[in-house]
Amino acid sequence: MRDLDENTLTDETLRAVSGGSSPRVRQVSQALIRHLHAFVREVEPSQAEWEYGIDFLTRVGHMCSDVRQEFVLLSDTLGVSMLVDAINHRKPEGATETTVLGPFFVDGRPELPLGANMSDGVPGTPLFISGTVRDVAARPLAGAAVDCWHSDAEGSYDVQRSVELTMRARFRADDEGRFWFWSVRPRYYPIPNDGPVGDMLAAQGRHPFRPEHVHFMIAAPGFETLITHVFIDGDPYLDSDVVFGVKNSLVTRYRPCEAGTAPDGSVVAVPYLALDYDFVLAPGTRG
Ligand code: BEZ
Ligand code: FE
Repeated sequence: MRDLDENTLTDETLRAVSGGSSPRVRQVSQALIRHLHAFVREVEPSQAEWEYGIDFLTRVGHMCSDVRQEFVLLSDTLGVSMLVDAINHRKPEGATETTVLGPFFVDGRPELPLGANMSDGVPGTPLFISGTVRDVAARPLAGAAVDCWHSDAEGSYDVQRSVELTMRARFRADDEGRFWFWSVRPRYYPIPNDGPVGDMLAAQGRHPFRPEHVHFMIAAPGFETLITHVFIDGDPYLDSDVVFGVKNSLVTRYRPCEAGTAPDGSVVAVPYLALDYDFVLAPGTRG
């Protein structure tokens, strides 16, 4: 293993990992080496460019904390998160499509009764969110856990602004698989772009925006947990989502409603919007 040059380095590196501790370790290590070496052969980085790349990844690492995961953001903005999502959620016909979880999900949010308002006084246009949870044979999934979270009217999540959890809650579908609750209209927003991923987007000539959406995570025993969003038609960023998460089947419209008695019997003093979406869970156990 001496005198290695650009003709022999790749094979020798592959050989070095051929005794990996399991077939999977060998497969992953060898694929990583093959693709990394192919990348370097294609790009032919100067020494300074290679150092820039190392520094970039170092900055990505330093940006990570308990509340910021810059590596996930890097994966999201390079289309890798959606590729992993697609590979892992090849759904049966009729099941609701998935999309990225995103960094703003908080586990252990409060469970609220159906009909509650999860916005906790955050200002914005009132939004009545409702829908159903069913299996692919259209049977209602009574008791399904419906987690919902979204940004405020200015495009910020609660965790970006304060320690108070708002605009997020868990609800339980009723015996007919129905759910309904109140919140406020979210808005399109930029992903966190004050770090190296933001620098990368600027260098690539890309904007940092995600189109307006409402996140859902829906779980029921015996079914694959569904992680998805509902997007709003007409948003200016629907066709250029910075994390590539939009799917046509997840795009819908608000129904504008006049002030008065809402579908759940509550009386609303101002005009409001209604968002209705029917979710279909695939059988399985994987999250
Ligand atoms: C989100 O939708 O919350 C999100 C997803 C990926 C990156 C940043 C934010
Ligand atoms: Fe989001």
